[in-house]
This record gives sequence, C-alpha cells and structure tokens, in this order.
Amino acid sequence: MIAVNCSPEIDMTQAEGILKEIARDKMGGWVELPRKYDVGELARVKEAAKEIQESSEVLVCIGIGGSYLGHRAVIEALRPRSGVEIVYAGNSLSKRELDWALEQVGDRDFSVNVISKSGTTLEPAVAFGEFKKKLIEKYGEEEAYSRIYATTDAKKGALHDEAVACGYTRFVVPDNIGGRYSVLTSVGMLAMAAAGVDIDKMLEGASEAVEAAVEPALKYAYMRHALGAKGYDTEVFASFEPCAMYFNEWLKQLFGESEGKNKQGVLPTAVIYSTDLHSLGQFMQDGRRNLWETIIDYPTDEMNAKVVTAVRIAHTEGGIPVLNIGVPSFNEKGFGELVYFFELACAISAKLFGVNPFDQPGVEAYKAELNRLL
Ligand code: PA5
Repeated sequence: MIAVNCSPEIDMTQAEGILKEIARDKMGGWVELPRKYDVGELARVKEAAKEIQESSEVLVCIGIGGSYLGHRAVIEALRPRSGVEIVYAGNSLSKRELDWALEQVGDRDFSVNVISKSGTTLEPAVAFGEFKKKLIEKYGEEEAYSRIYATTDAKKGALHDEAVACGYTRFVVPDNIGGRYSVLTSVGMLAMAAAGVDIDKMLEGASEAVEAAVEPALKYAYMRHALGAKGYDTEVFASFEPCAMYFNEWLKQLFGESEGKNKQGVLPTAVIYSTDLHSLGQFMQDGRRNLWETIIDYPTDEMNAKVVTAVRIAHTEGGIPVLNIGVPSFNEKGFGELVYFFELACAISAKLFGVNPFDQPGVEAYKAELNRLL
C-alpha cells in the first residue's frame, strides 16, 4: 500500500464531510469507478485493443490534457512490449510536431484513437484531420473509418456526431468524470490495452485503493494544505525514474487544473533525479525557500535508492520540507493504486483550499479566446 511519511493534524469531522462531498459530486464518478466498472465497456475495450494489435503496428493517440496524459504516463513508465507502438499527436498546435508524428507512422499499418470529451478541442481536431486524410489515402474510405476509434461524449459534440455519421467504433467518456480523472475510463484503457498494459491489473490496484488510499490521501492532502498555509507556494514532485516523466506531467495537470483557481492552490512542478540534480539541484538545495519536495519513491535499484536517501538528507538539511510517497510496486497494480491515490488526494486538497476540484474555467477561457482568434 502507498505510504506517506507525514502526520498532519486532521479534523476527522471535516475530512469525512469532504469525502462525502467528493463522492456525491456530479463529477465524482471516478470515486467508485474501479469497483463499479462497466464490464461490457471493458470487454469492448479489450476487443478493440486486440483488433488494433492484429491490424496495426502503430496506434496514433490523438488528444490533449486529460485526454492523453494519464495513459501516456502509464505506458511510458511500464514500457510494455507485447502491444503496438503508440504515437502521440494533437497535444499542441505545432505543425512541426504534427509532421513528425506523421513521419513516425510512415508507411506502417496504423489505427487512430481520437479522444476528446467535448469533441470540439482544436488541437486534436487539427491532428485528427491530418491522420484521417492519411488513413483514407492508404486504405480507402471504408477501411479507413474502420480503423478509427473515437472516445468522446455519449450524446453530443462534433466528434460524437462525426463518429455516428461515419460509423467509427465509439467509446464513451462518462458524463460524471472529467479529463484529468479519466485515466481508468476508456480514455486511458484503450491505448493502454493496445500498448500491452494489463488493464485488469490496473483496475485491481485501483479497486484496492478505493479503501486503502483514503488514509494516506487524507494525510498527504492535509499536509499540502498546512504547508500552503505556511507560505510554501510550490510543490516539486521528484521522481528518480526517467520513464516516470509523463507521470510527473499528469500530476502537474491534475493538481494545476484542480487547485489553481480563485487565486488559490500550490504551484505543482516536477523534476527527474538524478538528472535534474545537475540543473535544478542547486536551487533545490539552496535557492528561495518557498517550496517543498514530494518524493515519489518508486521501488528502484540499490544505487538509485542511495540517491533517494542522499537527496532526502541533503534537501532536509537545505531547509526544505521533504515529503515521501512510498509506492509499493512498479507494475500495473502499483500504477492503478497510485493513479487513484493521487486523484483522491488532489480532490481533497482542492476542497481544503476551498475550490472546485472538477472544473477548469481557465482552460475553457483560453479555448474560447483561441477559437475567436482563429
Ligand atoms: O482535464 C481536463 O478536463 C482537460 O485537461 C481536458 O482533458 C482537455 O482540455 C481536453 O479536453 P477535451 O477532452 O474536451 O478535448
């Protein structure tokens, strides 16, 4: 089980109230999800993943923010070998990146998973247009459409309407689960299964966490809030495994979008050690003391573990609070547990800061402005 090395004061009456509020929230569908998984949807995901593996060498995953970071985090960390290669697209508006993604696919057989809850986000829409063109050129319209898997709203949005009209295989982003909390829905599951991640094991870890993660999540969330109240306005997530870089990225999004509103929240940032000890290490040791460090302590080899210990001692001596989140296993089950733990801790933490963990008005504001400019 996840272990957190702090014991902040927890007002249990308040904590129980917060947990109930989160579970009852109209966007709290992720809380019970691992235990109440739609078995029909899960079977369809596995079937589609098998179909992709049989027909393709590459799956192009098109999506931005919560529509790609979670599954990319798990796939890049676990590096499964039994599935297809994943190429990511539609997570920026850079033409250079899009051309590179098209080039990476090259002449190989491929399928596309386009993921957008709203079905209207510009970045994935632009990339999808290009990859659809490539599919049609290579396979003709009928086969091209059979190679498109659309993960979107059940009833509305441009992507939903196109998927229905063209007969793409469709998966649903549940109404009651927002992007950054959707890793364990079809948003993340299809790509993970196609890549060769054991999604049953992910769910097993997450299911166990529904109860087991409550205590560590409360401790960690109350500690974050206590540190925030003392003026520590930046949290640095530190991992010692370079392959966990995208897990750091997902954490930045999860905490940034959930907490950073109404001029509240702690700025989430992240490092990979020992790599970044040779860049940001100086600042961490001796720079402005407005930050704390949260070590994501994955099981690792002996030499790397020594670095973890050395950093913990040196940075504590350097005057920054160092939290430690002990991760029990570096596998599907461990990541299922870890994803659930952080979702819960983040929602509790946002509630303690008095903000809604499940909306993202700032992101919507930028989307509206960009659409106006274009
Ligand atoms: O977490 C979120 O809700 C956001 O990051 C969204 O996932 C992101 O903006 C993409 O939106 P959509 O899935 O509607 O294209």
